[in-house]
Amino acid sequence: MLRGKRTPFLVYSLEELEASYRRIRDHFQYEDFLQLIPLKTNPLPPLLRAAFSMGMGADVCSVEEMNLAISQGCRRELISFTGIGLNESEMDEIAFEGIGALHLDSVQELEMWCRKWPGTGIGIRLNLDTRIDERCGCIYVGAESKMGIKPPDFPAVERIIKDSGCRLVGLHCHLAPFAKSSLEYIRRIESLIERCPSFMFDEIEYFNAGGGWPALMREGGSWDPRELAEGLEKICKEISSRANRSVQLRIEPGEHLLASCGAMISEVRVVKDIPGEERRILILDALLPPIECPLHKEPSIPLSVLGRKRQEFENYEYAIYGRNNTARDYITKSWRAPRLFPGDTISIGMCGAYVGVLISRFNWREPPEQWVITKEGRVVSEEDG
Ligand SMILES: Cc1ncc(COP(=O)(O)O)c(C=O)c1O
Repeated sequence: MLRGKRTPFLVYSLEELEASYRRIRDHFQYEDFLQLIPLKTNPLPPLLRAAFSMGMGADVCSVEEMNLAISQGCRRELISFTGIGLNESEMDEIAFEGIGALHLDSVQELEMWCRKWPGTGIGIRLNLDTRIDERCGCIYVGAESKMGIKPPDFPAVERIIKDSGCRLVGLHCHLAPFAKSSLEYIRRIESLIERCPSFMFDEIEYFNAGGGWPALMREGGSWDPRELAEGLEKICKEISSRANRSVQLRIEPGEHLLASCGAMISEVRVVKDIPGEERRILILDALLPPIECPLHKEPSIPLSVLGRKRQEFENYEYAIYGRNNTARDYITKSWRAPRLFPGDTISIGMCGAYVGVLISRFNWREPPEQWVITKEGRVVSEEDG
């Protein structure tokens, strides 16, 4: 179906999206449960429409993402906005759309919202971790992090909420990217909830545990999906009993939901020897994001040969790169495959999350085309529908 399309291109499977959604969903027994698709992970319209029709809501971080979710058919009450640095005109647009949830990220934003819309229900993003997690020079959680509202601000939050007659209806956190296992992730959230003052539970309707789960998990591994689901359900029951009402559990994993749904199809451009080694370097026409994405984190990316010009049977070990003028676009240092030649076609798996949306114009290259295979087996382009 996709034969003859210009490489590199990205291709996504709606069948795999549904299977991935069901795999996550099946682990959760909790009755009042909502899964949101983070638009930042993959905002391709056909993918979003499929996710919304499966019952997922939308995790959006900007007014642009909010409008995209609405235009692709997400019901407004299923849109959850968790942005940073909102100004008044953005808040006006959010209020105008009447979406289901907004998580404010600072006392300043909370003050602005509560002054303009007294008496409304509002959520906050929490950041209670005391230790600092740093990755690639960025501080994600802890006192120095730019994200979320921290404990010293809680008295101000309580005062603003009470004075304005607003209701604090939702708590949001996003801690998993910094945990090494599902157990550590659950412990971090438990300790966050323990440290929330009681006023935060007076009117609470939902708890949003964010995303940050790794692309791949298997039972018995350091990230065990069952342990994760059971841990989150226990936390939500605890919150429900503190609040004296049933509190909805919300999750918004992006990488875990979407990485497996996409692949980049790419052509071998050059095969180079490594002096003194059996291994060879394969340079593909693949275009990869210059910043961290699942491709850089996963120890084994599924690679397969789709088309070969010559059938030779010896096996070789390859280090694989894209063709940008940086070494950051490596895919793997070691892959065993039959002998390959320029012009052969390779599929790189795990490209469904953060790849299409983060590819830059580095080297002034055109971004790859993106195609979606529907459940009926039709190929549609990103603009279709
Ligand atoms: C608020 C929020 N929710 C969900 C996600 C999705 O994270 P991941 O793809 O790591 O699951 C992010 C990612 O940055 C986020 O900021």
